[in-house]
Amino acid sequence: MLKPLIAGNWKMNTTVHQGVDLVIKLRELLKGADPDEVEVVLAPPFTSIHHISHIIADSHIRLCGQNLHWEKGGAYTGEVSADMLISVGCRYVIIGHSERRELFKETDEMVNKKVLAALKAGLRPIICVGETLDERELGKTISKVQLQIKKALSGLAGGALKDIAIAYEPIWAIGTGRTATPQMAEEVHNALRELLFELYDTDSVKSTRVIYGGSVKPDNIDSLMAQPNIDGALVGGASLKAEDFARIVKFRHL
Ligand code: PGA
Repeated sequence: MLKPLIAGNWKMNTTVHQGVDLVIKLRELLKGADPDEVEVVLAPPFTSIHHISHIIADSHIRLCGQNLHWEKGGAYTGEVSADMLISVGCRYVIIGHSERRELFKETDEMVNKKVLAALKAGLRPIICVGETLDERELGKTISKVQLQIKKALSGLAGGALKDIAIAYEPIWAIGTGRTATPQMAEEVHNALRELLFELYDTDSVKSTRVIYGGSVKPDNIDSLMAQPNIDGALVGGASLKAEDFARIVKFRHL
């Protein structure tokens, strides 16, 4: 059994003070949570990560960047490298979020470069894939996400899979309140795992977590987590409310 991964993506929300307040509340609410049962990861904006790292130093909460650049350093105004994220305490990094792909024109090739750079530096990538509503209605969901993953993992040996999580996030479900049903999500997760089995050895594939994102809330987390191929959640809006996120972390086994 893989340890479930519950990650909160704060996106471009919270000043340092607001982020600190949120994480202090969360730390209290999660005090009873068993770190052997679930891995909890937070992706605050870059500006808050360093402050927050001090607050969670004696907790089991881990930190995550929301993005990175594949170069180690240089003239890339506005960008952040893997080493910089590690230096402020990050262990994880979100790569290829649909907002990055759509709004900032990130391509599959860029996603692949970021994945390779993150792993090389010792950061664990959470690689996001997902289809638009049009693609779903045209029956292209599986082929789209499988191709995104094939390209994201290009050049990667199986041994690296244990350090990777894949986040299936249907674009039409992000921030909309519309969630994929657990069965819809399970079907895609299963297809992603089947692709991994085609590409890599069984042990490596079994070590990879495939998590779901898109309007995950306290009232749908339990049924999502009851699916055999859903190994966690990437949570946006609900991760900005300490009580909601804590309830998601403490999902109930149905
Ligand atoms: P949401 O965002 O939970 O607000 O839908 C999820 C995400 O974008 O990762």
